[in-house]
Amino acid sequence: MEAIILVGGLGTRLRPLTHTVPKPLLPLANVPMVERMVRNLPEVFDTAILAVNYGLDEMKIYFEGRDIGKKIIIVPEEKPLGTGGAMRNCIDHVTGTTAVFNGDVVTSADLNKMLEQHIRTKAKGTLALWEVEDPSRFGVVELKNGQILQFQEKPERGTELSNLINAGTYLLEPEVLEMIPPNQKISIERDIYPQVAGNGLYGFPFEGYFIDSGTPESYLEANFKSIGNNGTAAHSGASIRGPSLIHESAVLQDCIIGPNAIIGPNVKMEKCVIRRTVILSDVKGYGSVIEDCVIGPAISFEKDLSRTLVSPKGSIPF
Ligand code: GDD
Ligand code: MG
Repeated sequence: MEAIILVGGLGTRLRPLTHTVPKPLLPLANVPMVERMVRNLPEVFDTAILAVNYGLDEMKIYFEGRDIGKKIIIVPEEKPLGTGGAMRNCIDHVTGTTAVFNGDVVTSADLNKMLEQHIRTKAKGTLALWEVEDPSRFGVVELKNGQILQFQEKPERGTELSNLINAGTYLLEPEVLEMIPPNQKISIERDIYPQVAGNGLYGFPFEGYFIDSGTPESYLEANFKSIGNNGTAAHSGASIRGPSLIHESAVLQDCIIGPNAIIGPNVKMEKCVIRRTVILSDVKGYGSVIEDCVIGPAISFEKDLSRTLVSPKGSIPF
């Protein structure tokens, strides 16, 4: 079975960091977002199809010769085709029921259970659903007896049909992909789901967590969630205070790390306090307190920082 991962976005809200690293290759707990998604696929999915627009060259270089346990097919788009157009562009590689993921979400949705339900209900499409307080910046559904009767993409505030949002994880039958006109910019959410709603579109509400990792704050949160139970217990030169992850190649001296600090490969730091922060690869730091920041790759710092994204192409507070 195949899983399509939509990795076309520009990552605008994580600029200027995404001018250096395309968003799908930004790490979550030291593993690139897209690689993490591929690794998390249930065993029945043996192939991951990456629908790529921006960052194509970096993606090809990253996956070339790298064995992550699944067949990887990179499908390029010359121009962004939208979420639906990008899926349609992958149709030649699809052999049956297909999973589709928005490449920027981190969720606890159980794809095996979702697949069981999809088969049991004989759905044309099944969408993972998450409950939020303010649904207006998402896709919103009306759900009745498990069926999605209506789908609204980014409805105006006050007009939302419910608090259940599209969590960006789908199981789709080929007939849904075939409804998408080829070689055109098509939004699956605006152009296709409203047509399938009430006609074989089912919802799969889940609990646990859902993070759209598009902003500096949510990127940090997604990283902290991704530490899971794999945090570093001890590392030379570091006093670890709460869940944190320190790459084995990092060289630390007199540092206080955590809670929620993620230190990437080849980082060198001396006399630093790092909390609620993601430090990407090859960063050097001295004598600083760093809180709620995203820093790197290959940056040097020697002053205190808080709520700042620091990248080789510039820094922005958030
Ligand atoms: N290949 C390709 N080509 N991928 C694309 C394109 C494109 O033209 N446009 C967007 N994508 C990818 C993005 O990279 C992202 O992984 C995913 O499709 C969704 O696009 P976003 O731009 O992140 O959409 P959103 O976050 O505003 O809304 C979507 O996600 C919400 C959940 O986070 C929608 O699916 C909403 O309905 C949903 O609630
Ligand atoms: Mg998004």
